[in-house]
Amino acid sequence: MKINQRGHLEIGGADSVELANKFGTPLYVFDEMHIRNMMRIYQDTINEAYDGNGLVLYASKAFSCKAIYAIAKQEGIGVDVVSGGELYTAMQAGFPAEKICMHGNNKLKREIEYALDCKVGTIVVDAYSEADMLDEEASKRGMVQEVLIRINPGVEAHTHAYVQTATPDSKFGFSIADGTAEKITAYVLQKKHLRLKGFHCHIGSQIFEKQSFVLAVEKNLAFISAIKKTLGYEAETLNMGGGFGIWYTDEDAKIGVEGYRDYLYALIETVKDGCEKYGLKRPFINIEPGRSIVGEAGITLYTVGAIKEIPGIRKYVAIDGGMFDNPRYALYQSKYTALLANRANEKPCEIVSIAGKCCESGDLIGTNFNLAKAQTGDILAVLSTGAYNYSMASNYNRNLIPPAVLVKDGKAEYIVKPQTYEDLVRNDVIPESLK
Ligand code: LLP
Repeated sequence: MKINQRGHLEIGGADSVELANKFGTPLYVFDEMHIRNMMRIYQDTINEAYDGNGLVLYASKAFSCKAIYAIAKQEGIGVDVVSGGELYTAMQAGFPAEKICMHGNNKLKREIEYALDCKVGTIVVDAYSEADMLDEEASKRGMVQEVLIRINPGVEAHTHAYVQTATPDSKFGFSIADGTAEKITAYVLQKKHLRLKGFHCHIGSQIFEKQSFVLAVEKNLAFISAIKKTLGYEAETLNMGGGFGIWYTDEDAKIGVEGYRDYLYALIETVKDGCEKYGLKRPFINIEPGRSIVGEAGITLYTVGAIKEIPGIRKYVAIDGGMFDNPRYALYQSKYTALLANRANEKPCEIVSIAGKCCESGDLIGTNFNLAKAQTGDILAVLSTGAYNYSMASNYNRNLIPPAVLVKDGKAEYIVKPQTYEDLVRNDVIPESLK
């Protein structure tokens, strides 16, 4: 991203104001090369530092649409899906099923059936009932399904409580500390139609502390070593999850491509050291980055509408979007950086709150934005919105979910077309009794 000669914000070589004029606002804009570079840096690091004995799985919950699976396919990486809907989208994009890893703490029977019918490569077991259902459905189909078990290593990572997963009180995984991880392992090993490939852990999201990731991997290796002794089972695969933090505001570190490479190097070194310490075979590794692949690659463009100053209290700058395209402030008080894309060179001069158009006071993109003096009609860009924005969007207040464009070498194409009012009523029915 840069500011061009016209003083406009530019992304992927495209003038954001021209994008706003051509495609309308609100608009999600994704820089294709940023996404590809992030996918490459992770897979290249595994190739260089671990002899290619691993696969990056893009965590598609961060941003799921056909085009992102098409990019992941071209880059030769795998994907993580967490619902029948994400799986369907990947399959519709022609994504190779064997490179799909299926997650979820409560997979539905129909999702398990669909995953088996698609011949998904790996399914991560996160409940006894799932192990039973999977075994039964695989048996019906005369197949053996490769699975991992989700482990809770009990590592506390510093991030928002809602997105933190591996503390003792979590709906995800089986705890090493209380022995339940070993029990489910013994249980899955007995299943005739499941082949246990190893373990998965994911400690949370938007985490910057390398040490948290390293500790989780160490705990997993200690567990693998312990059950090798008790159960005589040695894991072949270790999926280390995702969670690397990204830059939203200057309170966050700017990790950059090299920084992410360092994170992964640290994890790989931990795996190597642990294997040496415990006399284990080096496992095949997976990582599941979502946010760090698409987050900084995306921005959202809005048009400024109403501006309201409440003397001595605050100034609201309202935009044509809001919590229906970005619910992260409402959910987590997430912070963002914004600027006027059409006057990107102008010095910020006032602190404002950016309000959405939903019928609810908490509908904000955030407070305390330092902006140049906004006027109705300005184009506002909110940065680092590529992850968990479109994927968490809704039709609240029957607002339309904005379209998304992919930009490369200055050219932009739709990857998600605009919704229409007809889309909103497509599934609505007025029963005869109401006519
Ligand atoms: N693998 C598993 C099993 C996960 O649960 C997640 C994220 C990831 C990988 C990817 O993590 P990432 O690299 O994107 O941090 N809606 C929240 C984030 C929820 C993350 C859920 N799981 C947000 O907007 O911050």
